[in-house]
Amino acid sequence: MPRRLLQCRPTEQTQMSPFFSLSIPLFFLFLLSPIPSYSAQPQNFSSLTAANSPWTPASNRVLLSNNNVFAAGFLQSSPNLYSFSVWYYNKSTPLSRTIVVWSVKAQLDNSSTLSITSGQLVLSNGPNTSNLWPSIETARPASSAKLVLHDNGSLVFSGSDWESFKVPTDTLLPNQNISGTTITSLNGRFTFNSTDLRFNNTDSYWTVSETETGRFLMLDDSGFILGEDGRIFSADVDEKCLRRINIGNDGNLRVYSYCQNDSTEWTVVWQSNPELCKIHGSCGPNSICIGDGGSSTYCVCPSGFRNTTPDSYNCERKIPMKNMKNTKFIRLDYVNFTGGSNQTNIGSKNLSDCQARCLDNDNCLGFMYNYDGTGRCILQLERLLYGYWSPGENTANAMFLRVDSSETEETNFKGLTSVLETTCPVNISLPSPPDESNTTTRNIAIICTLFAAELISGVAFFWAFLKKYIKYRNMAQTLGLELLPAGGPKRFTLSEVKAATNGFSDPIGKGGFGDVYKGELSDKRVVAVKCLKNVAGGDGEFWAEVTIIARMHHLNLVRLWGFCAEKGQRILIYEYVPNGSLDKYLFRSGRPTDGKAMDEVVGEMKPVLDWNIRYRIAVGVARAIAYLHEECLEWVLHCDIKPENILLGDDFCPKISDFGLAKLRKKEDMVSMSRIRGTRGYMAPEWAKTDQITPKADVYSFGMVLLEIVSGIRNFEMQGSFIESENWYFPGWAFDKVFKEMKVEDILDRQIKHAYDDRMHFKLVDRMVKTAMWCLQDRPELRPSMGKVAKMLEGTVEIMEPKKPTIFYLGDD
Ligand SMILES: *[C@@H]1O[C@H](CO)[C@@H](O)[C@H](O)[C@H]1NC(C)=O
Ligand SMILES: *[C@@H]1O[C@H](CO)[C@@H](O)[C@H](O)[C@H]1NC(C)=O
Ligand SMILES: *[C@@H]1O[C@H](CO)[C@@H](O)[C@H](O)[C@H]1NC(C)=O
Ligand SMILES: *[C@@H]1O[C@H](CO)[C@@H](O)[C@H](O)[C@H]1NC(C)=O
Ligand SMILES: *[C@@H]1O[C@H](CO)[C@@H](O)[C@H](O)[C@H]1NC(C)=O
Ligand SMILES: *[C@@H]1O[C@H](CO)[C@@H](O)[C@H](O)[C@H]1NC(C)=O
Ligand SMILES: *[C@@H]1O[C@H](CO)[C@@H](O)[C@H](O)[C@H]1NC(C)=O
Ligand SMILES: *[C@@H]1O[C@H](CO)[C@@H](O)[C@H](O)[C@H]1NC(C)=O
Ligand SMILES: *[C@@H]1O[C@H](CO)[C@@H](O)[C@H](O)[C@H]1NC(C)=O
Ligand SMILES: *[C@@H]1O[C@H](CO)[C@@H](O)[C@H](O)[C@H]1NC(C)=O
Ligand SMILES: *[C@@H]1O[C@H](CO)[C@@H](O)[C@H](O)[C@H]1NC(C)=O
Ligand SMILES: *[C@@H]1O[C@H](CO)[C@@H](O)[C@H](O)[C@H]1NC(C)=O
Repeated sequence: MPRRLLQCRPTEQTQMSPFFSLSIPLFFLFLLSPIPSYSAQPQNFSSLTAANSPWTPASNRVLLSNNNVFAAGFLQSSPNLYSFSVWYYNKSTPLSRTIVVWSVKAQLDNSSTLSITSGQLVLSNGPNTSNLWPSIETARPASSAKLVLHDNGSLVFSGSDWESFKVPTDTLLPNQNISGTTITSLNGRFTFNSTDLRFNNTDSYWTVSETETGRFLMLDDSGFILGEDGRIFSADVDEKCLRRINIGNDGNLRVYSYCQNDSTEWTVVWQSNPELCKIHGSCGPNSICIGDGGSSTYCVCPSGFRNTTPDSYNCERKIPMKNMKNTKFIRLDYVNFTGGSNQTNIGSKNLSDCQARCLDNDNCLGFMYNYDGTGRCILQLERLLYGYWSPGENTANAMFLRVDSSETEETNFKGLTSVLETTCPVNISLPSPPDESNTTTRNIAIICTLFAAELISGVAFFWAFLKKYIKYRNMAQTLGLELLPAGGPKRFTLSEVKAATNGFSDPIGKGGFGDVYKGELSDKRVVAVKCLKNVAGGDGEFWAEVTIIARMHHLNLVRLWGFCAEKGQRILIYEYVPNGSLDKYLFRSGRPTDGKAMDEVVGEMKPVLDWNIRYRIAVGVARAIAYLHEECLEWVLHCDIKPENILLGDDFCPKISDFGLAKLRKKEDMVSMSRIRGTRGYMAPEWAKTDQITPKADVYSFGMVLLEIVSGIRNFEMQGSFIESENWYFPGWAFDKVFKEMKVEDILDRQIKHAYDDRMHFKLVDRMVKTAMWCLQDRPELRPSMGKVAKMLEGTVEIMEPKKPTIFYLGDD
């Protein structure tokens, strides 16, 4: 039960996505256009023989498989145009809105015939034309030769060994051997040869081996894609579903599934490139691809460029660069060009260093620079190809486009500055923990001034940022663009992991999912290595889940860099987040924290987080959860949001850990684990009942964390101290204090209460408290979605007066 719930997937209407092509052979269009429906039911028959030849479009017959799942015949596309195809038979709409799985690539008119003459299968378009049937082998003359459609969708001509499964078009069916064949999208632009997805027959943009599992062999009956290494992907494991693999006109490879029990639509259960813009050829040279909602893309010219011709996907410079010494750069935020001639990261000390190296090279048309501190610098030499915009993935990445210095246009891709300034990376130094004995007025004054300065600049940036960025972000959200990039995580061997962690010698934590060790990879990256316990499933499933986790890219999510699945071990390798978890900063009274064995830092005094940082942490965490819930193809419930799982980076930038792991749990463990583990106090009331767990459970946990961020009190410690009184329920108590007694200051963290200034902090704290109250509503349907929560915190939507959170829901039935 839980696994299924956690893997809800959106339905994607159809495989017939809108497509964008530089040159779509027009005649393929008919395969996509709505097909006029027949009024009369066609007659069905089970085989074509010499005796019932010839077969013509006018005969109104379909060849049916025994199980009535597939049909073959002449499909009409326009008044006098036909294609000979195999499709999923649907009695209610026999000849329209069909999903075609195979067809002869020739357009036929009403004079065409399919016949068996002297043991040969002949498809002709008019009496005297050549045989259009694809790659027919030498026939063994046989009077009994016939054409039949098998239950598995294979059209077989028994006069020779001809099978439609050997000459696939754009679709593969279960049990159809992928090996040795190639499927091609209907528009002819994209191909898949069992290992590589290619554009223009040469340019590979996705490979199976990237994920180290060899190649696709076939889709089996139970929904697994078999690879050379065994099962490498599972769809809904249910024998009853119809499934197909299809390469779309957008270049994406997808597995579709139709389960009568589940839904009445074909749904996408897997796709190679969730982010369509990473498919090469979506846009032409110099153009930048922007996704528009998962199923299609559009192309935009960067500043200084214009479309070569109207409606073209290519862009050209408005002002040619005549003198390479006389050039400047335009910054395009969140843009990445992936098709230059040498995409090697040359590494640089800083931005000006990277820029200087581009200026030195007359072939350099621009460079990409990453602001994340890694010094990533890529020169774009000779050509600019396959550009795409993705604030979700290229979070700190900008493209610097070289233009003639007489160019006056401003950049048309903005937003990064404000994000860099508001979300996290501004360097902040925190006041050290207040020393009760010598808190002087002077200290307070200094701190207040700091706060004021920080707040004012913060607010200024924030509004500047909102103005420009919201436009992009909303666009990104409505378009579903802040999405998953492709590419799998790196697989490490056990000995590599041992070497990195020095034999697991530096434990840094113990979580519900297993022990965590600090380590350093051979490339000097510092990592946190998490050894999982009780993981269900085989290597293939583990890989599939890990790939999904690794695709979650967000500034506020801990990055997964790799994994190890060897000798029964299940190890995840994460980026190391230096400042530890939020609980260490919030709860410092030294009281035991629910018996958790994580107090390796006892004694070390962490600095007190000021209001602005607390606010930023709240917004960051909300955005990351919203991303998990709403912007990922396979949305993920976290199920265990609590301060221990919120890590703080260098600049106290929050990063959520342990997301996606709930899926790896053994089923039996799922429910009990979440009850028993240290999540007491953060679990939504519905966990206590057995009904559906929805994203709203995370919203509840987040609300609790939000209240703790404000109060600095563990919610269940509060319960302890008030157990005698009616105020034992922390959210209820906080509500009464704030909204009934109007004493906000009573719930504020005592450690920085003195720094609370009504004028400066009221808005932030008020937003946090009100949002928390909404998140903590007992009924899931009353809680806002996480996206809404993030907006409430940001202040971009008005927050209504909340109702008092209660736990009556529990006692309902
Ligand atoms: C096929 O034709 C036969 C006889 O005409 C009819 O009984 C049967 O229901 C048809 N099957 C379908 C799936 O239309
Ligand atoms: C057959 O067509 C009906 C009506 O359009 C539709 O509801 C149903 O899902 C289709 N069945 C299949 C197997 O496509
Ligand atoms: C076939 O199509 C032509 C027009 O292209 C039309 O004149 C003719 O009548 C059609 N024949 C039949 C049998 O429908
Ligand atoms: C087809 O070919 C036969 C003989 O080869 C000829 O008699 C006939 O006129 C041709 N028909 C057409 C429509 O070209
Ligand atoms: C499809 O079904 C036919 C008849 O059952 C069988 O002979 C053939 O081997 C099947 N093809 C595949 C690829 O399983
Ligand atoms: C698939 O094709 C490959 C090569 O063409 C062949 O070696 C293999 O046996 C086939 N597998 C099945 C299950 O037919
Ligand atoms: C598929 O194409 C890629 C790129 O051209 C090539 O490297 C690979 O060997 C091909 N795979 C097969 C199975 O032919
Ligand atoms: C496709 O490849 C050919 C050569 O392999 C090249 O000339 C052509 O420009 C490419 N087309 C596109 C759209 O990239
Ligand atoms: C699908 O429905 C059939 C009958 O309606 C039922 O027997 C079967 O158990 C269902 N399968 C699943 C996986 O729910
Ligand atoms: C790409 O650039 C790097 C660094 O400048 C250089 O070492 C490498 O040889 C280049 N590769 C190619 C294929 O030109
Ligand atoms: C960037 O790095 C170069 C090379 O180390 C150094 O000379 C320069 O001063 C640095 N510039 C800035 C702004 O730090
Ligand atoms: C940009 O594209 C390159 C080449 O495909 C890729 O390696 C890189 O991860 C992308 N993103 C960033 C932020 O550089």
